[in-house]
Amino acid sequence: MMKNSDLVLGYDYDKYLGYGAIEPISTDISTKTNSHIILCGMSGSGKSYATNLLFAKIASREGVVFFSDFKQDDQFAYLRGCPRYYPYNKSIEALEIVYDTLHKRQSGEDKSRSPVTLIWDEYMANILAIQGTEKKRADDIMRKVSEILMLGRSLAVRLIISCQRPDASAFPSGSRLNYGIILIVGAPIRSIYEMLIPKEYIDEIGDRAFKRGEGVALLQGSDMRYIKIPMVKDEAKMQRVCIDALTREESPVEGGGEATSPQTVGLVLPDRAQT
Ligand SMILES: Nc1ncnc2c1ncn2[C@@H]1O[C@H](COP(=O)(O)OP(=O)(O)OP(=O)(O)O)[C@@H](O)[C@H]1O
Ligand SMILES: [Mg+2]
Repeated sequence: MMKNSDLVLGYDYDKYLGYGAIEPISTDISTKTNSHIILCGMSGSGKSYATNLLFAKIASREGVVFFSDFKQDDQFAYLRGCPRYYPYNKSIEALEIVYDTLHKRQSGEDKSRSPVTLIWDEYMANILAIQGTEKKRADDIMRKVSEILMLGRSLAVRLIISCQRPDASAFPSGSRLNYGIILIVGAPIRSIYEMLIPKEYIDEIGDRAFKRGEGVALLQGSDMRYIKIPMVKDEAKMQRVCIDALTREESPVEGGGEATSPQTVGLVLPDRAQT
């Protein structure tokens, strides 16, 4: 049974490829569970595509979203001009605002628990670029990211980060393991698995070969699933939902909306299992 706070991440890979069944893989994204998301995989594996999709699904039902797009990827070109879209060297401004919200909530100055999400595409590349010129600033940024990862859940402040390889150096104090939702898409690169997945699960993956938009989901550190990220059916609709999320002042529905709000219906291939 899906709850209102469940987010569909994609479809069960084996059922989808094996016999065309569409069984959603979903996970609770309420403040009861850790819903920080990390999305990894080599170039072209489908990270930004999946980011767009998760963005739309989250945005259509809750809270305010900030988007840092270090690379200024073509896939996010439609967001240019939105007030909370932070390209290239503006990406850290979004972090500062979200970090400030975290602290205002922690100190009691901000009593709201309406979800705030920072989506950050190409996080590692962004950190490496800053490290190259301003080491101290990069350290400060990473410390803030770690703090959000460690304190954000109960304060409804969430991070969605995508990068090719999540080197530990960019996640101080072991905060790399603070993601409730780990998605690794595309060709299986053992070194990436080893950064995020316990050894026994890696052994279980064995020599499975994933293509772009397919891969492994590790939920809450203990539930490993093979996942297929669906194709977007109505790109214009997806884009409208995302633009709205980077523009509007308030959450569409305080405290989260329906699991299948009218805005998400029809966005991707149907979420319900088909027989
Ligand atoms: N789940 C998917 N279904 C269908 N096509 C996909 C899917 N994921 C990715 N693609 C296609 O593959 C292309 C590359 O994907 P994407 O840009 O998301 O990769 P990436 O991992 O972000 O790469 P990079 O690291 O270079 O930014 C996309 O333009 C899209 O056309
Ligand atoms: Mg990308």
